[in-house]
Parts: sequence; C-alpha cells; structure tokens
Amino acid sequence: MSSAVMDKAEAEAKQPASHLITATFRIRRFNPEVSEEASWEDFQLEIDPKERVLDALHQIKWEIDGTLTFRRSCAHGICGSDAMRINGRNRLACKTLIKDLNPDQPITVEAIKGLTLLKDLVVDMEPFFQAYRDVMPFLVTSGNEPTRERLQSAEDRERFDDTTKCILCAACTSSCPVFWNDGQYFGPAAIVNAHRFIFDSRDEAGEQRLEILNDKDGVWRCRTVFNCTEACPRGIEVTKAIQEVKRALITRRF
Ligand code: SF4
Ligand code: F3S
Ligand code: FES
Repeated sequence: MSSAVMDKAEAEAKQPASHLITATFRIRRFNPEVSEEASWEDFQLEIDPKERVLDALHQIKWEIDGTLTFRRSCAHGICGSDAMRINGRNRLACKTLIKDLNPDQPITVEAIKGLTLLKDLVVDMEPFFQAYRDVMPFLVTSGNEPTRERLQSAEDRERFDDTTKCILCAACTSSCPVFWNDGQYFGPAAIVNAHRFIFDSRDEAGEQRLEILNDKDGVWRCRTVFNCTEACPRGIEVTKAIQEVKRALITRRF
C-alpha cells in the first residue's frame, strides 16, 4: 500500500464515528418464566442509521442482553423468519433500515399479532403453517407420467406469477384484523399459496382447494381490509389474489 493511501486509512480510523447516531429501541419483552405480562424495555444504541433493525437486535443481543430472543436466518429477505411489528407495522427486520424509521423517536419492536407469544419476539407459528398445509401447497397431477417436463405457455405462467413470490413470513396473516379476531380464519398467506396452485394450468386439484377455502373460515371471511397487501414485504397483491380465488369459487372458472 502506498504511504498516501496508508495515511488516508489511518486518518479515517482516527476520526470519530460521526456517522453514528444514538437511537432508542423500545422492545416488547416477554418471558413466561418470569412474568405472565409482557413489558417494554428500552435499549440505547450508538448505531449507523444505514444499518437495519436486525443489526440493532444483534447488537443488543451480542453486546447488551443475550437473553433477547428473536428468529432470523438468511438476513437478506429470503427465509421469511424475522417478520415483526416495527413502529406499529409488520415488516422484516432484515429489510428495514433504521434511517427510514424516524430514529429521533424511540423505535418500537414487538412480535407479530394474532399468534401465541412464546418469548420476546417469537410467536408460535404452528397454526399459520397448519393453514398453509391445509390448502395442499404442492402440484397435484394424476396418471400418464410425462417423459419430459410439463410445458406451460408464458400466459398461463403469468396467471400465478405474483403468488409464487411468497416467503411465508406471516406478515400478511398477522396484520389481518379478521385473523386477530379468533385465529380460525385461514388467513391471506394460506390463500395466496392456494392461489399459486389453483391457477397453475398443470395442476388438477383446483376444485379441491376451492372447496377447502369455501369453508366458514375460508375466503369469505376476508373483508377486503388490505392490511395484508400493505404488509407484504414481497410486494404481492395479496387482496387481489384473494379476490381472484373468490371469483373462481363463484364462476368455477380458473
Ligand atoms: Fe409474507 Fe407476503 Fe407471503 Fe404473506 S404473502 S406470507 S406477507 S410473503
Ligand atoms: Fe384481512 Fe387482507 Fe382480507 S387484511 S380482511 S385478508 S384483504
Ligand atoms: Fe430471512 Fe429476514 S432473516 S427474511
């Protein structure tokens, strides 16, 4: 390295970290072994506002309080495991920049709603995944195994392109007031994943899936509130997909 480059690097290293800000993260904590009630706890961090909420949670867990409990895996918006309620809105912690959250005010972080709280930011996802399993989220075909791949036109593929993007994060279902009500509603995520196969020209179980969603806790419980569409970190038009499933149930054309 030339001495000029070294001087610059040394000078930068000596400079105060002026890009850091002090931000307060107000996290809703819950530990059933300590208390039956959840309560808010504040953590003050020196942090780069260009970092993500997930980085702040890591900083808290690794440097301040190792008991802080949350889920995450990929850290890049793919696995869907870190949906949480940030400043009152469902988002992925790994896709939410601190600078976009008005960090002059405390940033609130809490678990998603409508599912049983287990600890801190972790909820029981089993009812969510049960609804997903119930709509048969896999391709169903019968007989005459093809000797080559099943072909599909670009137009037919386009019909369910949007709903293939789901990462099962539950941001939609846990933002739906109908789901909050009793947790019995299948919820938008299950319907999105049913849509993905109902409108697939290669699939043969569309009628069966429609009947499953014709249930009293199926699509008709949707009141077109649109929270789900606003919450989806993948930009899926969730409410539109639900409407298409409702229409298919009425017309039996899909
Ligand atoms: Fe998450 Fe969107 Fe899939 Fe709902 S539809 S589970 S918000 S990715
Ligand atoms: Fe709920 Fe979305 Fe319908 S928020 S009511 S599933 S449009
Ligand atoms: Fe995988 Fe955020 S950690 S989506």
